[in-house]
Amino acid sequence: MEKFRIRGGRRLVGEVRISGSKNAALPCLAATLLTSEPVTLPGLPRVRDIVTMERVLAALGESCEHVNGATRAVAGRSGAFHAPYELVRTMRASVLVLGPLLARRHRARVALPGGCAIGARPVDFHLEALARLGADLRIESGDVVAEAPRGLCGSDIVFPRITVTGTENLLMAAVLSRGRTILRNCALEPEVEDLARMLAAMGARINGIGTSTLEVEGVESLRGADHNVIPDRIEAGTYVIAAVLAGSGVTVSRCRPVHLAALLTVLGEAGVTFSVRADAIDVPEQEVRPRAASLETAEYPGFATDLQAQFLTLATQAMGTSSITEAIFENRFQHVLELKRLGASIAVEGPTAHVHGPTHLDGTTVMASDLRASASLVLAGLVAGGETVVDRIYHLDRGYEAMEVKLNALGAQVERFNPGPYL
Ligand code: EPU
Repeated sequence: MEKFRIRGGRRLVGEVRISGSKNAALPCLAATLLTSEPVTLPGLPRVRDIVTMERVLAALGESCEHVNGATRAVAGRSGAFHAPYELVRTMRASVLVLGPLLARRHRARVALPGGCAIGARPVDFHLEALARLGADLRIESGDVVAEAPRGLCGSDIVFPRITVTGTENLLMAAVLSRGRTILRNCALEPEVEDLARMLAAMGARINGIGTSTLEVEGVESLRGADHNVIPDRIEAGTYVIAAVLAGSGVTVSRCRPVHLAALLTVLGEAGVTFSVRADAIDVPEQEVRPRAASLETAEYPGFATDLQAQFLTLATQAMGTSSITEAIFENRFQHVLELKRLGASIAVEGPTAHVHGPTHLDGTTVMASDLRASASLVLAGLVAGGETVVDRIYHLDRGYEAMEVKLNALGAQVERFNPGPYL
C-alpha cells in the first residue's frame, strides 16, 4: 500500500495551481448520460474518483476519451442500466447516475452504497424524491432497482435536509421529466450551481440557479456541450492552510476565492494575513502564530465539512484553545486520534473537538482513514519534527491531484513509496 514519507520543517514558497473540482466533475460526468451527443469537459482533475466514475460510465455503455487535457464522453448504443457494487463500494458518488439513468433510459439498477468512514450517509432523500417523480423503487439483492416505464413526471419536492448529491441527482432527473419540477431546500454548494450551468448549456430549462429553489421545465432531449468545471475549492483551502502553517510566501492560484469566504473569514479572525485577488490568494510568511478560532461546519456558504480536518491541524499550531464542531457528518473526527499520535492535544466532546495549541508535533507513522483526514495528516507532517509516514495514501489520491508533486514544487520534501504488502 502506498505511503507518503514527509520530512517536516521545510518552508513552502512559490505558486500552486488548483485543479478542477472533483465534486463538480463527478455530477457533470454523470450528466453526460442525459444526451446521445458528445460532451467535452476540459480540465477534469486526474484523481481516482474521476477514474472510478469513468468506469461506472463504461459499465453503462459510455466511453470517455482524453484529448488535449479534455475528457470527451461519448454515448454508446447500449441501454445498460446497472452500476455494479464493485464500483459503487469504492465511491459513494456513483449513486449520481441514478437520476440520469431513470430520466433517459427509464430504468436504473445501482448498488446501494454501504457505510462510510465519516458516517452512515444514507441516500433516502434521493430515493424518496425520485419516487415523487413517479419512479417505482425497490431494493433487490443490495441494489436500488428503479423503473419509470412511461418516463418521470414533474413534481414539487422539498428536501427534508440539505443534500448536495441529492440535489444534483434530482436536478438531473428533472431536466428530462414531463412538465415542471420544483426542488426546494436545495444545496447552494458551488458544485450544484456548476452542474446546473452545464445542464443549461445542454438545453435544460432551469430557473433559480444559485438559489435554494430550482424550477425545472422538462424538455424532450438534451444536446452535447463543452463545459469547464469550477476550480476545486477544497483543494484550494487545503493549500491555503498549508501556506499558513509552513509558508514563506505562497500564492494559491487558479482558484475562486469567493468560494472560500467562510474559511477566509475564520482565518482573518485568527489573525492570519493574506490577500485576495480575483482568482488567487496570496499568503505571506506569518509573522505571528494564528490565534485560536472556533467554528462549526455547515452547508455552503458556511464552513465546509471538507475543510474541517485540515483546519483542525492548523488549530494545533494556533495560540489557545480552538473549538471545532462537526455538524454535517456524525463520525468525522477520525484524524483526531492520528493527530494525537503526533503529539496534538485534542479533546473530543460529542460533535466538538477542543484543540489546545500550540503543540510541538513529532513525526511518526499515522494512518489515513478518509480523503480529507489524509490531507490533515499530510499538513501535520509538514510542520512535525523529523519524519512522518502517512499510510493508506489511496484515500488522498481519490481527491487530490498529485499532491506530493505540488507540495514538492513549493519546497516540501514528500516522497511517495510502496514498501510492498508486508510492511
Ligand atoms: N443525508 C441523509 N440522507 C440522504 C442524503 C444525505 O441523511 O439521502 C445526510 C448525510 O448523511 C449527511 C447530510 O445529510 O449527514 C449531508 O450530506 P450530503 O448528501 O450533502 O453529502 P453528499 O452529497 O453525500 C457531498 C460531497 C462530500 C461533502 C458533502 C457535504 C460529493 C461527491 N460529495 O456528499 O464530499 O462532504 O457533500 O458537503 O459532492 C469529499 O469530497 O471528501 C466529500 C466527502
